[in-house]
Amino acid sequence: MTCKILVLPGDGIGPDITAEAIKILKACQKQGLDIEIEEALVGGAAYDAEGDPLPRETLLKAQAADAILLGAVGGPQWDKLEDIAKRPERGLLGLRKELGLFGNLRPAFLYPQLAEASSLKAEVVSGLDIMIVRELTGGIYFGQPRGIEERDGQRVGFNTYVYSEAEIERIGRVAFEMARKRNRKLCSVDKANVLEVTMLWREVMERLAPEYPDVELSHMYVDNAAMQLVRAPKQFDVIVTGNMFGDILSDAAAMLTGSIGMLPSASLNEKGQGMFEPCHGSAPDIAGQNIANPLATILSVAMMLRYSLDEPELAGRIERAVSQVLDSDLRTADIAYADTRKVSTSEMGDAVLEAFRKG
Ligand code: NAD
Ligand code: IPM
Ligand code: MN
Repeated sequence: MTCKILVLPGDGIGPDITAEAIKILKACQKQGLDIEIEEALVGGAAYDAEGDPLPRETLLKAQAADAILLGAVGGPQWDKLEDIAKRPERGLLGLRKELGLFGNLRPAFLYPQLAEASSLKAEVVSGLDIMIVRELTGGIYFGQPRGIEERDGQRVGFNTYVYSEAEIERIGRVAFEMARKRNRKLCSVDKANVLEVTMLWREVMERLAPEYPDVELSHMYVDNAAMQLVRAPKQFDVIVTGNMFGDILSDAAAMLTGSIGMLPSASLNEKGQGMFEPCHGSAPDIAGQNIANPLATILSVAMMLRYSLDEPELAGRIERAVSQVLDSDLRTADIAYADTRKVSTSEMGDAVLEAFRKG
């Protein structure tokens, strides 16, 4: 049966990087992958065209798709929108919530060829392979009440950090299962020394542990986890954490791999439907220059093939193609260093495409 792939380029560098990922998707199609590719608007681009960062048509297409590839949303031109509900980021959050994409996988994997591109010493990061499992449809991002209102003569802003046992349990199971497929070490990151919501988080993780006796569960406070990630990142195998802590820790982990432009992600729901996107944003500072790194988005296509389309071989082939290109001296600006050859977004995409075709 033909799989429907919806591509949502979004804003800033989004259209540039998704264009390179589409080249790879089309090459997979030529290899016999039965897919049809459709595009739709999201984020600021959708707001400008239709006055809504998540138009109904886009949501309907997303619901009908087998998998979604998203570039990035947001940019300074929409940061001052009076109506917060119209901000580009709300389009992305709406998609995640409406599709129930609670399980966010963010693998921080260092391609050995990039050890010198990391801001940390090569020996600290070489061999790095961490999977961050971030809860994506709950926590402080979605808790009610939220808002800005007048109290006692001044404005106050407030959000609510809330998780139910059921929400914690289902992301916990994703993480335990993931640890099982990897090195069987799971570190749950919380702030249980201060926040009740994460006291409950820790309790639920502990309650699940006996069902996964082959997985070693540990706990760490988020402040220490941030420090440990840059001190000795290889101590981690799988990290499970809530929405906001996962957002922050995954950007830090990204830098261990050389650049945020290397970090792909998968966001999955209970039906196995998924949205795939790079972890980085729309990078307004380099938008429109054809210099962004497209590899995180291309590697997100590999995650799509592995997690939603059940095509692990094609996924592996894309990852090998990326690795082969990194064997050469071609580098986008973010991962370039002495003696490497700086290439554009499209040149990098073409190089991966060529390696993929040969592979
Ligand atoms: P950002 O990730 O867009 O950029 C941070 C830095 O990383 C910038 O210097 C940027 O140039 C660089 N960078 C990011 N991706 C890169 C790539 N592929 N290649 C080379 N360099 C890259 O984060 P920000 O600046 O905090 O946010 C910019 C906008 O993006 C904001 O509107 C924010 O809300 C949005 N955002 C969207 C997403 C998403 O769509 N998933 C994620 C994060 C931020
Ligand atoms: C991410 C982004 C988003 C998040 C924003 C743009 C809503 O930072 O995907 O990491 O905070 O989840
Ligand atoms: Mn983020």
